[in-house]
Amino acid sequence: MAKLKKRSWAEPFKIKVVEPIKMTTQEFREKAIEEAGYNTFLLRSEDVYIDLLTDSGTSAMSDYQWAGMMMGDEAYAGSKNFYHLEAAIHKYYGYKHLIPTHQGRGAEHILSQIMIKPGDVIPGNMYFTTTRHHQELAGGIFADIIVDEAHDPESTYKFKGNVDLNKLSNIIKEYGAEKVSYISLEGNVNMAGGQPFSMKNLKELYELCSKNNIPIMLDATRIIENSYFIKTREEGYADLSIEEILMEICSYTDGATMSSKKDHLVNIGGFLALNDDHLAQKARELLVVFEGLQTYGGIAGRDMEAMARGIEEAVQYDHMKARIGQVEYLGEKLLEIGVPIVKPIGSHAIYLDAKKFLPHIPQDQYPAQALAAAIYEDSGVRTMERGIVSAGRDKKTGNHYFPKLELVRLTIPRRVYTQAHMDVTAESIEAVFENRDSIKGLKMVYEPESLRFFQARFEKLT
Ligand SMILES: Cc1ncc(COP(=O)(O)O)c(C=O)c1O
Repeated sequence: MAKLKKRSWAEPFKIKVVEPIKMTTQEFREKAIEEAGYNTFLLRSEDVYIDLLTDSGTSAMSDYQWAGMMMGDEAYAGSKNFYHLEAAIHKYYGYKHLIPTHQGRGAEHILSQIMIKPGDVIPGNMYFTTTRHHQELAGGIFADIIVDEAHDPESTYKFKGNVDLNKLSNIIKEYGAEKVSYISLEGNVNMAGGQPFSMKNLKELYELCSKNNIPIMLDATRIIENSYFIKTREEGYADLSIEEILMEICSYTDGATMSSKKDHLVNIGGFLALNDDHLAQKARELLVVFEGLQTYGGIAGRDMEAMARGIEEAVQYDHMKARIGQVEYLGEKLLEIGVPIVKPIGSHAIYLDAKKFLPHIPQDQYPAQALAAAIYEDSGVRTMERGIVSAGRDKKTGNHYFPKLELVRLTIPRRVYTQAHMDVTAESIEAVFENRDSIKGLKMVYEPESLRFFQARFEKLT
């Protein structure tokens, strides 16, 4: 008789190379985070034990990808790796034109410059930091059209990444469709907790946009993870492959920006993909000014090869099952302990609800920033703030945006950490939770003008 009574997920790979990580003392860490201005972005990575800062560019590549690195064709023009990558984009995403960029924000920059006119509005299913920044730099105004559930960490709605079509209709009425540059649609919405949109919602969005002649531009950074959620959560999709779902999603969109540093299991790279010939031509003209020639766009040939191979691996069901299984494993442990996290558990990270974790710290004393620092002090686990610091300031009024979600993100790199690392992380969060009353708020002592969360410095309030 089976005693365990369950069938666990497990990694579809074994470990061939290891990288030692440093264990440090509490005293060492307290000093290190103080020197880093209580900003986990300013820590040295060698002083970090388990690095959950981001899933961006932190994945472990496979032997197949490393072998591809040796096949790098570093010709200035016409590298064979570009053509391999282009074929992979056609095969898995279906877009006509590939415009390679050094990473996601390079693509966001070019897309914003070619499509946004000053005074235009860009509705999106919640903002992402770099995406909104490039839209604003081009003179656009971002408008949030995500469903209300996305702003409620307690809501267990399965598709918190969905667009609220009423909100979009109101924007079209207010500004006129010709003022809407495009819909900025993100898969597995990062700032909402890694939450997917459903295919049903996308189809409805497509209908509304087609009627009004508004293009849909996908932020495809984690769209393969979104496809996995459609397969496992949405009626009618269980028997389709991730590949088929991905292709269907892209068929309802006009193009995409991509940070390959996530889904594609590489350390650097990204692209803009477009279907329209004229737009693609304009994008290539800017590409050569800001990124590089049209067949490398700021990426080495070897890295384009790793991207092409990474895409093949990322669409495998067993890979996704283990990747998301590991995130769920950590999330379920934290729920068991009673730690407040965003629900449902998302694809790439667990998000601690800092407003509930530290109710004694007002939002303008940066509770999530303080919590991320406290976790590092406790165990050397590095996490990241996703709250008021990340949200920045309203360009017109100069006031802080006060986002409803004040979160600490524990982001899981792909294929890097073990289940024991997840256990140690959960144990550290539990210890910090038990001592939460002793955590104090912070004061910002250095504030960069844009994307302040990367470089801002803080001091502890006494
Ligand atoms: C949803 C989303 N879009 C865009 C980006 C920007 O990509 P990159 O960091 O490669 O510039 C990121 C990166 O974190 C992201 O998570």
